[in-house]
Amino acid sequence: MKIEDQRVEDVLVHVRARYNSDLPHFTDCIRSAFSEVDAVFWRDQYLGFYWKCVTNVPGYIQDVVIANADAESHGSEGLHDLWQKVHGISEVEDGIRNHYLDESRHARLFLHLTDLSFPEYLREADETRLRNGLFDAPNASREKDDLEASIEYIIDNMIQMNIGEIRTRSHMFMIGPVLTAYAPREYKERVDGILGGLVYDEVTHIGYTANIMEEWCRNGHKKLIKDLYKRRLRDFNKFTIDQTRASVELYGQGAFPDIFEI
Ligand SMILES: [Fe+2]
Ligand SMILES: [Fe+2]
Repeated sequence: MKIEDQRVEDVLVHVRARYNSDLPHFTDCIRSAFSEVDAVFWRDQYLGFYWKCVTNVPGYIQDVVIANADAESHGSEGLHDLWQKVHGISEVEDGIRNHYLDESRHARLFLHLTDLSFPEYLREADETRLRNGLFDAPNASREKDDLEASIEYIIDNMIQMNIGEIRTRSHMFMIGPVLTAYAPREYKERVDGILGGLVYDEVTHIGYTANIMEEWCRNGHKKLIKDLYKRRLRDFNKFTIDQTRASVELYGQGAFPDIFEI
């Protein structure tokens, strides 16, 4: 079995175990997308480059963790926006609501991880500024928009989230050991605990979106989901490349020639 296929199977094993469900339609969609579209974020060169940066480039890991806080906060805000546009599908609404609350909490946890692993890195004023800039999901509006999202729009968002969460989980496996290694001895256990919780939550996010897609596949949307998953995975490759290009030019030293071949 190819390594990419093993990575898909690993995601499936965790999601199925968590939800005690085989998810046959979702399995078919995700397997066919990842076998047709070579995911950049799972390539050996991408993983190798990422690992090289977080372990070797001074300041890189700190920047990644702070950028994650920001990304989680933006993610939470986007999900809140989506939640406001979903009407009358309680399973979906509840899932999205839990999700935006999780991501907002994660944003704060990433700042906390920075403190624990690199106690000298953030000055108090910078940390307060960063913290104050994060989306405050627990206090966000509970009003719904007048505008109602179409089922196609919701499906498209679920697919993009599902792919994004799979990449986040993969990144966590690289960032995690580095944060634990850097943390002062007295904080290592707390850092490990937080990281374990983050990975657990990301599996939940992959899983609830997978379950919703499974249901929609059964209700006549299978072709749309299967085709769109591939298209969005291709788009995601382009985002990943755009986000990584500058770093590869700066730190790659020509050692990752095929990282961006698509
Ligand atoms: Fe998250
Ligand atoms: Fe997530």
